[in-house]
Amino acid sequence: MEISTFVNDLPKVELHLHIEGTLEPELKFALAERNSIQLTHSTVEEVRASYNFNDLASFLTSYYDGMNVLRTAEDFYDLAMAYLTKAASQNVRYVEMFFDPQAHTCRGVSFDTVIHGLRRAQLEAEKNLGIRSNLIMCFLRDFQAEYAMATLLESLPYKAWILGVGLDSDETGNAPAKFTEVFARARQEGYLLTMHCDVDIKDSIEHIRQVIEDIQVARIDHGTNVLENPALVEVLADKGIGLTSCPISNTWVSDGSKIELVTELVSKGVKVCINSDDPAYFGGYIAENFQLVADEGKVDNAFLAQLSRNAVDISWAPLDLKAAIRAEIDEVLSRN
Ligand code: HPA
Ligand code: ZN
Repeated sequence: MEISTFVNDLPKVELHLHIEGTLEPELKFALAERNSIQLTHSTVEEVRASYNFNDLASFLTSYYDGMNVLRTAEDFYDLAMAYLTKAASQNVRYVEMFFDPQAHTCRGVSFDTVIHGLRRAQLEAEKNLGIRSNLIMCFLRDFQAEYAMATLLESLPYKAWILGVGLDSDETGNAPAKFTEVFARARQEGYLLTMHCDVDIKDSIEHIRQVIEDIQVARIDHGTNVLENPALVEVLADKGIGLTSCPISNTWVSDGSKIELVTELVSKGVKVCINSDDPAYFGGYIAENFQLVADEGKVDNAFLAQLSRNAVDISWAPLDLKAAIRAEIDEVLSRN
């Protein structure tokens, strides 16, 4: 995909990025070798060829399988450093990265190992690449709520390093309501709240209603099915609850990019932004996602800049950083 100069230069904010979903096959092989792990595939091409997902569940199988090579703090450092370097090269100024501690603690890798590796990369990337970042800890919704609560408690000594909590993994049969108590406690502890409401899932509207009315999240990840319920769309617009949409990811787990839903939601006053989700698996980082919006949505540069501003607005970045990125977006737009 050819990335336009404008899309590349546009200052960007990424709010829906699973750090474990940035594990490229090349790094997977390097870490497998370092940790003496035998992979089922023998070449990078074979690994890429095995990525032929047609729904969320088939993607998640590869996603969790891939993580097995992540064992030491250095592995998590290398993973995050590779992502932050790539993001900085695409003019991402600020990123809120999801991480899935339970996907590691459930196979014997400690919380402390995971977060120390990620944290070191964050500090180094800020200093050397000028990219700022924060962490959002996601609970796996297909595990019991008790395990999520135990993970929340385990995270408390590292609270200063974690900005918010989210909910991901297999949504079918795992409604937001299952985690009401966990999220209430997370709020009490000072964490900001977001949750996945994946695209075209069974009971999607009821799940979206729960996250808005019962859990009272600040943002929703994906969530574009809200258009099926105009009253809920109005609530999002009125309360400024934003959506983090992931066009390339949508093409893999559903029947299209859903870009037409993004433009419709924006026209109704909902703050939607563009993100990459699991770029190593879906084959596109944030610039490729913006380019798909430009090509398929037939939108102009001003609209792309609006999408980037939406991300700034609904982000949890410090106010001075938000102001600086907005000014930079305006400057790049005025040059084009
Ligand atoms: N949805 C649910 N779980 C996930 C995702 C997603 O987009 N990415 C990684 N885990
Ligand atoms: Zn996601």
